[in-house]
Amino acid sequence: MKRIAVIGAGYVGLVAACCLAKSKFEVICIERDQDKINQLVKGIIPFYEEGLQELLVAGLESERLKFSQNFADCKGLEVLMVAVGTPSQVDGRVDLSQIYQVMRDIKHYDLRPKVLVMKSTVPPGLGEQLKKRFLANSECETAYVSNPEFLREGQAIKDWYFPDRIVLGGDFPKALELVESLFINISAPVVKMDVTSAEMVKYASNAFLATKISFINEIGNLCELVGADITPVAQAVGMDRRIGDQFLKAGLGYGGSCFPKDTRGLDFLSTLKGHTFNLLKAVIEVNTRQRILAVRKLCNSLGSLHGKKIGVLGLTFKPDTDDIRESPALEIIKFLLDEGAQVTAYDPMANISKLNSMDFNLCLNAMSAASGCHALVLATEWPEFINLDWGAVQKEMREPFLILDGRNSLNAQNMSVLGFQYVGMGKL
Ligand code: UDX
Repeated sequence: MKRIAVIGAGYVGLVAACCLAKSKFEVICIERDQDKINQLVKGIIPFYEEGLQELLVAGLESERLKFSQNFADCKGLEVLMVAVGTPSQVDGRVDLSQIYQVMRDIKHYDLRPKVLVMKSTVPPGLGEQLKKRFLANSECETAYVSNPEFLREGQAIKDWYFPDRIVLGGDFPKALELVESLFINISAPVVKMDVTSAEMVKYASNAFLATKISFINEIGNLCELVGADITPVAQAVGMDRRIGDQFLKAGLGYGGSCFPKDTRGLDFLSTLKGHTFNLLKAVIEVNTRQRILAVRKLCNSLGSLHGKKIGVLGLTFKPDTDDIRESPALEIIKFLLDEGAQVTAYDPMANISKLNSMDFNLCLNAMSAASGCHALVLATEWPEFINLDWGAVQKEMREPFLILDGRNSLNAQNMSVLGFQYVGMGKL
């Protein structure tokens, strides 16, 4: 049985560790944060992800999944999988400090795994640099394999077992085979290439998906000007199989821990290499503008926002996650507060411990967030909001009973019948 070390118990690392343990590998997950380990060994995960807690508990019970703070515990293991964070810095550059620390630890503890698998998203070209800088020693026979991860929050386990493809980048066929054998029970095409190309696949995929979102948002903005409706437009455009129907939902734009960071990271890399990636710059700009546009729509209906009471439904960057990183809702709240509005908000799951102090009133349910509001913004399309008793919500509000459907998830006609002034994104 293979024994694998996974470095980092963040989103990707924890999902990888739990799923590999379920596939009958022995996994040791190295995590620097002892408090996090204390929780994990009790079967408690630090964020919400459907099905992950059960996998963690099963892994712990089978004793195939262990956690440790100590790098020395990885000694003698064949495979070391790196899944530490690579957050964005203010200028868009990727903060690689956690990657470098892992590479120093590997050297310091003289770990010498057969294969180092890089799952963290790193700028194309970094793997080759790391190889030269940390693995070029003739005694060290560690092969470097890039294995980007494409899982989505909220669907992480499903995405692990049913990926569209497995991408492996490396120089040695034997090392690639070894990594491929980790996905033994997963039926997906395996695409092999060099390290830098594998790194590029991840950025290109995320940038392309972000481009689809910004593109459809721009078509939506144009729809408003010519009197068209983005919903049937996107639906019919997406029926062309060459285009595909996914990531064509117009709204407040993309958020989360990946798209904003990776689009900025790729733009930074392009500039660094002397290339101006104008298309990507536009994608980022459209995404930023989309949130401002939402505020402008509120101003168009309410006039000045000063002293107006505005409720925001949803704080997470999308449903089925507790993640609020780069959430459009939080950006919009900042703008509203700057305009002098009084803001109430509610989210069924948002991890508000990650919320830096913000000057708005967090409510216990949608109804109290709506109470006395001139306007409501639907910022995250949680099913609970779609299924609200909107008639009762309307009665809680005050004129002009404005509802800004930032995700085009409500039925405009029904809302008008209930006495709302309905405003969507990309429709009149
Ligand atoms: C994304 C990628 O999908 C995944 O492959 C990668 O590994 C990590 O980044 P994630 O951030 O979990 O996953 O969320 P995703 O479901 O892709 O949505 C990203 C954002 O785009 C959300 O804010 C969502 O609301 C927005 N979005 C998505 C749209 O605005 N319109 C769409 O049509 C689709």
